[in-house]
Amino acid sequence: MFTDANKKRATEIVALYPKAHSAILPLAHLAQDQDGWLSPEAMDEIADYCDTTAADVQGVCSFYTMYKRRPCGNLVVSVCTNVTCLVVGGPEVLERLEHKYASDHDVFVEEVECLAACGNAPSMQVNYEYHEHLTPESAEQIVEDYKAGRLVARGVSGGLA
Ligand code: FES
Repeated sequence: MFTDANKKRATEIVALYPKAHSAILPLAHLAQDQDGWLSPEAMDEIADYCDTTAADVQGVCSFYTMYKRRPCGNLVVSVCTNVTCLVVGGPEVLERLEHKYASDHDVFVEEVECLAACGNAPSMQVNYEYHEHLTPESAEQIVEDYKAGRLVARGVSGGLA
């Protein structure tokens, strides 16, 4: 459920659009920034604001991988294993991070398609902030720096709301 401040923000966002339905994506960002993921309850609430059904909201949000439909902790680590990253060590970065953070509920490691940073592969994002020229060791150190506060993470939506 939106906080009182976010209910006010949600109303303001809906008012920006000629049709309330168009506010689904920004409200999903707002909910994810608030809770760290899009819960079924949040999608119900978004449906009410957007004058549609929860199934419609779920259908829209399930198309975009940036919307997390389960809790994913404070750090979303997206590791590219597409063609360029594949040949210069992306899978090894992914394997290292998946193993290291397998039981860490604060770190969600995911394999993603091309991040459009092929020139500096292998690449990953932490909360949608780019890190490039990685090795398994440097990638782990970067995540540890976020965990320790030496690097500051934006919200899990990348601060888009
Ligand atoms: S293939 Fe990894 S960033 Fe493009």
